[in-house]
Amino acid sequence: MFFETAHGMRPAPLIHNPFNALVCPRPIGWISTVDSSGAHNLAPFSYFNAVSSDPPYVVFAPNSPNANRTKDTYRNVNEVPEFVANFVSVADAEAMNASSKDYPHGADEFAACGIAAAPSRLVRPQRVAIAKAALECRVFQIVNLPKTPDGRQNNVVIGEVVGIHVADDVIVDGRVDEALLAPLSRLGYMNYGVLGRIFAMDRPA
Ligand SMILES: Cc1cc2nc3c(=O)[nH]c(=O)nc-3n(C[C@H](O)[C@H](O)[C@H](O)COP(=O)(O)O)c2cc1C
Repeated sequence: MFFETAHGMRPAPLIHNPFNALVCPRPIGWISTVDSSGAHNLAPFSYFNAVSSDPPYVVFAPNSPNANRTKDTYRNVNEVPEFVANFVSVADAEAMNASSKDYPHGADEFAACGIAAAPSRLVRPQRVAIAKAALECRVFQIVNLPKTPDGRQNNVVIGEVVGIHVADDVIVDGRVDEALLAPLSRLGYMNYGVLGRIFAMDRPA
């Protein structure tokens, strides 16, 4: 099939927007931020990825569900332009999911969901203590995508990674062992994935 997105994202026979099932798997950035009054916030974002490794930059996209709302994460990075992108291992799936609940502004998902926090070294937002890896980031730029006719706004936050935490127990022979990191990936609909077979392939000479 083929469809033009301008005509809607659910053409028959598709019963849901298929986009997330097509652009998958996606890593999950478990983004911690803080507002100007010092209230901490934590929420998962699967519109998240790395865009360069040296110097390292990442992006994530806090999108508004309707014209009258912006996500706390978006509000916070505008107030305090720093965040931590914590990685989600399979073992942390339930805690990550709990932190995605729509808590009122100012609510601390670390406390509400019983997720232990640890201080960051270079930025004000705290990090998820159990995360096997965490990227301390400074906001480089926030891009506002065009508003939809019904007033929703999607946004892209670009962050420079200024510090990286890696748990010692996932480092084997000088490399991060992806199987030990066990990243949870987001698929389409309500689906998630885990790493399958890992294999190496050299670049063409
Ligand atoms: C696995 C997962 C991935 C998500 N990815 C995104 C995303 O990329 N962008 C987004 O706006 N919301 C995403 N959400 C929803 C937010 O986590 C949710 O709206 C959360 O309440 C936002 O919190 P905040 O208002 O504290 O920023 C995701 C939720 C889950 C469970």
